[in-house]
Amino acid sequence: MMWETVWKQGKIAYGGDYNPEQWPEETWEEDMRLLKLAHIDTLTLNVFSWAALQPSEEEYSFGKLDKIMELAKKHGMKVCLATSTGAHPAWMARKYPEILRTEFGGMKRKFGGRHNSCPNSQVYRKYTVRLAEKLAERYQGYGNIIAWHISNEYGGACYCENCEKAFRVWLKGRYGTIEELNRAWNTSFWGHTFYDWEEIVAPDTRSEHLGAEQTVAQGISIDYQRFQSDSILDCFRLEYDAVKKYTKDIPVTTNLMGAYKPLDYQKWGKYMDFISWDSYPSNEDSASKTAWNHDLMRGVGGGKPFILMEQTPSQQNWQPFNALKRPGVMRLWSYQAIAHGSDSVLFFQMKQSIGGCEKYHGAVISHAGHGHTRVFREVEELGRELEQLGGEILGSVGTAETAVLFSWENWWAAEYSSGPSIRLKYEEETLKYYTAFHRQNIPVDIVGQEDDLLKYKLVVAPLLYMVKDGTDSRIREFVEKGGTFVATYFSGYVDENDLVAIGGYPGKLRDILGIWVEESDALPEYKTNHFAYQGQEYPAELLCDIMHLEGAEALARYQEDFYVGTPVVTRNSFGDGQAYYVGTRSNDGFYQNFMAELCKEQQIKAAAEAPEGVEAVTRVREEGKSYLFLLNHGEESQEFTVPNAAKELLTQKEYTKGECFTLPAKGVGIFMGQAGHAKE
Ligand code: GLA
Ligand code: ZN
Repeated sequence: MMWETVWKQGKIAYGGDYNPEQWPEETWEEDMRLLKLAHIDTLTLNVFSWAALQPSEEEYSFGKLDKIMELAKKHGMKVCLATSTGAHPAWMARKYPEILRTEFGGMKRKFGGRHNSCPNSQVYRKYTVRLAEKLAERYQGYGNIIAWHISNEYGGACYCENCEKAFRVWLKGRYGTIEELNRAWNTSFWGHTFYDWEEIVAPDTRSEHLGAEQTVAQGISIDYQRFQSDSILDCFRLEYDAVKKYTKDIPVTTNLMGAYKPLDYQKWGKYMDFISWDSYPSNEDSASKTAWNHDLMRGVGGGKPFILMEQTPSQQNWQPFNALKRPGVMRLWSYQAIAHGSDSVLFFQMKQSIGGCEKYHGAVISHAGHGHTRVFREVEELGRELEQLGGEILGSVGTAETAVLFSWENWWAAEYSSGPSIRLKYEEETLKYYTAFHRQNIPVDIVGQEDDLLKYKLVVAPLLYMVKDGTDSRIREFVEKGGTFVATYFSGYVDENDLVAIGGYPGKLRDILGIWVEESDALPEYKTNHFAYQGQEYPAELLCDIMHLEGAEALARYQEDFYVGTPVVTRNSFGDGQAYYVGTRSNDGFYQNFMAELCKEQQIKAAAEAPEGVEAVTRVREEGKSYLFLLNHGEESQEFTVPNAAKELLTQKEYTKGECFTLPAKGVGIFMGQAGHAKE
């Protein structure tokens, strides 16, 4: 485990995206005055300036950016410098139409929008690298840059002929021969045999797809996802290398988007110096969904602290209903991000623009142009608090003994599958298990198929449909050595090429779980089976596995239908550990009780005994210091009984054991004490 802060800031970085190039220079000083009033110390600059920086193919113009950089320095602002390659210039699209993407339906894009460049265009790559290099060369001695922000929210996919060509090259690298490719894709199905690489085309609605998630050839579609994620990652890596040529010591990131399906962030994380991400929950999202995204992003970075690169001070502009963040909520959600591992609180945006689709997006400086607004006051108060906190918390890490396994490749595979049910949603199922822990304040790490499981006591792998090479051995070793493992329905079916493991489900997990799933019944929304677990009745929905025990014992059995009396929840002793199987989808009550039971057995403790609606999360540091965050998401004030003598950092008050701490609605507390069950 690394014990280090993400940025050498000395405090939690505070600020965010600032676009002064959209404003007359005379307004800049006033912006700085207001931002400093709000205790802002970090600016993300230059996110969408490519057109300004490169007015034509041969010409570059850094005059304005020089001035902006000087302005930031003069006012003591640290800079997170973007490379601007998230939106290419109009002249470039006109001159080189190959840089424009082709959409899934075959439509060739024109200039417009952003994030619209073909990742396999050599022209795009050449000019992004050139720009990144020029920026790094020019500002290498500037002194105030704390991070590089490559492009912006990479995403989407392209289906153009250039991408098709690059796909063939990528496939040759993966499979070597056309025979091996035909085997991996099982092309004898529906007469798809390829005799020449040139016959292979992109899988979209012109070829294999009926809709975004309906494909005739899952193997091809999954590989295309991998290929696009890799192609876009290559664009990131090219710019990464370009800036590193001049600035070896400045860490490099790009802003991710949480559980964003098109990009395999677990692979991306390996190439980023640190993880940063943009969090935009709606008011309706649960606290656990936001926490899940934070934990997912922390996991992608191997458990190290991350940077909250963007959140809105209040409303967004792109949701159907752009509700305001209620008083106190921006502060609460900022501390929630910190609690889950963020070393920053950054906003999109510092100042509201006057034109374009984001003109009504929340900002620190609103159209009113002064600081006498509710939002500004809340930003200012939080800024003051973060300044007081100073270097505390920075670099500290989580304490989880439990992990939930989540895998992008499995996500693609499980949802491309034609059958057994269109209701099957991978993230939704995973979130159900995650939420069961979150509601009980049990710390959780999110791990991928390649991560080490041995440091955990309990690992839950919902819907692990695709078991990659090596994953089953990692799970087997984990259970043999005493770990507790939980798998669910629709698991172990296929290998990484989406080819079914013959011999019976759940394939390579079968011996670990001690069961054989013979059939699986898909229930429509209006149909429910039931089972009783520890004296309580629960629903069985969506899929009902019909299984045989092969060493496992049944903990619950179906109560209806022709498979009445057959097992639905099982436990298998394997080596020194236990492997559980849940053969259906149930309700939140079941997941909570079941997970609570397993945690009790394994002596996995909650971060704290907190009242209903209060989230409790701990970060710890090497020296043995711990920070217990209490976050009251509810509408009522709550009383918390302080478990051990500790100092509350926001009020700077010492509390004794058993004393009562009142958390108002949306209130926050941070208790600094000695690490309880922190691991080395
Ligand atoms: C994203 C982008 C920003 C901005 C915000 C608006 O996160 O990175 O440039 O468009 O959304 O919510
Ligand atoms: Zn393309």
